[in-house]
Amino acid sequence: MVSEAPAGGAGPETAAALIARVLADASARRGRAAVALSGGSTPRRVYERLAHDRVLRGAMPWAATEFFWGDERWVAADHPDHNARMAIEACLAHVPVDPAQIHPMPTGAASPAAAALAYEALLAAHVPSADGLPQFDLLMLGMGDDGHTLSLFPGSAALHEAERACVAVPAPALEPRVPRLTLTPPVVRVAAHVLLLTSGPGKAAVLARIDAAPTDIDRYPIHLLRHAQGTVTRISL
Ligand code: 6PG
Repeated sequence: MVSEAPAGGAGPETAAALIARVLADASARRGRAAVALSGGSTPRRVYERLAHDRVLRGAMPWAATEFFWGDERWVAADHPDHNARMAIEACLAHVPVDPAQIHPMPTGAASPAAAALAYEALLAAHVPSADGLPQFDLLMLGMGDDGHTLSLFPGSAALHEAERACVAVPAPALEPRVPRLTLTPPVVRVAAHVLLLTSGPGKAAVLARIDAAPTDIDRYPIHLLRHAQGTVTRISL
């Protein structure tokens, strides 16, 4: 694992340029690229840059990329809390990609558990595998103030999932308090490149405190990055 930690306060352009570079390298290497986009609020500015900055837009291998998500809230696709809706509105609706390349987690399925199984089948069909798991060229992560990442919250049984690629988890004790779908720790482990995006001095202070703590993924799920086999880049916007 090679960890790059650019100086704090990098702009969204820095993150957008890294996303474009990693996906363009994957596309050059194997003809396709697979990215799992992160949710929450932090990445919006980065997605907007990818769509509207001429140079960054031009650097992205749009036609060769399959777009997935790392996690999703169990709300309708047009709900304000829907992670895929945010990324589509901020970026994917404004760039030259075919809807068939965009794979939101299916929150219209019969149940979160059924949705997780369906997503695993989709991942198996579109994403190369390593150790029987989907190996993303780029996995984007955020981090909550409690050290959660994806929808892997402190104390969650999903933190010890060793086989599945995507699971349903109960509503967390923080907003939005709805069940979630999330990729799992093994998917983080095998990803070729992980990009952790955080923003603001408050989050930087939380991350510094968590960095100083001994590894404890139950208490700090973001410690999963310490088991990542690929490149880890951390950018504080
Ligand atoms: C989600 C995210 C979650 C998010 C962090 C940070 O669905 O909420 O996937 O892991 O990345 O909570 O969220 P902010 O970027 O809004 O601080």
